[in-house]
Amino acid sequence: MTQPWYSTCDSRMAFMELVFEDWRIRSYRPEDLAALLRYAGERAVSVQLRDRFPYPYTHEAGEEWLRRMAEQQPETDFAIATGSHLIGGIGLELRDDVERGSAEVGYWLGQPFWGRGIATAALQAFCGWAFSHFGLVRLQACVFESNPASGRVLEKSGFRLEGRLRQAVLKEGRRMDMLVYGLLKPTG
Ligand SMILES: CC(C)(COP(=O)(O)OP(=O)(O)OC[C@H]1O[C@@H](n2cnc3c(N)ncnc32)[C@H](O)[C@@H]1OP(=O)(O)O)[C@@H](O)C(=O)NCCC(=O)NCCS
Repeated sequence: MTQPWYSTCDSRMAFMELVFEDWRIRSYRPEDLAALLRYAGERAVSVQLRDRFPYPYTHEAGEEWLRRMAEQQPETDFAIATGSHLIGGIGLELRDDVERGSAEVGYWLGQPFWGRGIATAALQAFCGWAFSHFGLVRLQACVFESNPASGRVLEKSGFRLEGRLRQAVLKEGRRMDMLVYGLLKPTG
C-alpha cells in the first residue's frame, strides 16, 4: 500500500483530505447529496449498519446529514471519494469517561465499489490518521455476525477479533451476535 498523503485537518475551517491509492477520504461537501442518496440508499448497505443510518435514505435525511457534517466539531465523519464524487463514508465515535483515548470506527461503501479492496485501503489510511490526530491508543469496530466481508476488512487491516456479544443485535427483525474487533496503536 502506498503511504497516504495528508493535507490540513486541524480545524473545522480547514478541509481534510487524505489520499490513498486512487481514492480519498475527505470532508463532506454539499454537492455530495446526489451520490449520498444513491449509494447510502442501498439496502445492502443499511442492513449492516445501526438503525440510525436510515432506510429508506430520504432526500431530507441526506440534507440533514450534510448540514450536520458542515458543522461537526471535531470533524470525525468523512466521505470516501474518487477525485470527483462520493462513493462511501467512514467515521469515528470518540469514547469518553474511562474509555477516553479510544474510539469506534465505522464505514460503508456503495455496492458498485465492493470487492476492489477500497474499504481495506480506506480503513488502513484512516486508522493511521485517527491514532495520531486524536491521540488514541485503541480503535474498535462492531460487526454483525451476518457481515463476514467487514470482518475480513478488519482482519486485513490488523484488527483482532476480541469478543462475541451474544444476541446483542436486533436488525430488521433478526436477532444475532455482534463481533467486537480491536486495534491498538502501533508502537515504535
Ligand atoms: C463491508 C464493506 C465495507 C467491504 O468493502 P469492500 O471494499 O468490498 O472490502 P474489501 O474489498 O477491502 O475486502 C472485502 C473482503 O471481504 C471478503 N468477502 C466479501 N464477501 C464475503 C463473504 N460473504 N464472506 C467472507 N468474506 C467475504 C472479500 O473476499 C475480501 O477479502 P479478500 O481480500 O481476502 O478476498 C462493504 O461491503 C460495505 O460497505 N458493506 C455495507 C456496509 C457495512 O457492512 N459496513 C461495515 C459495518 S461493520
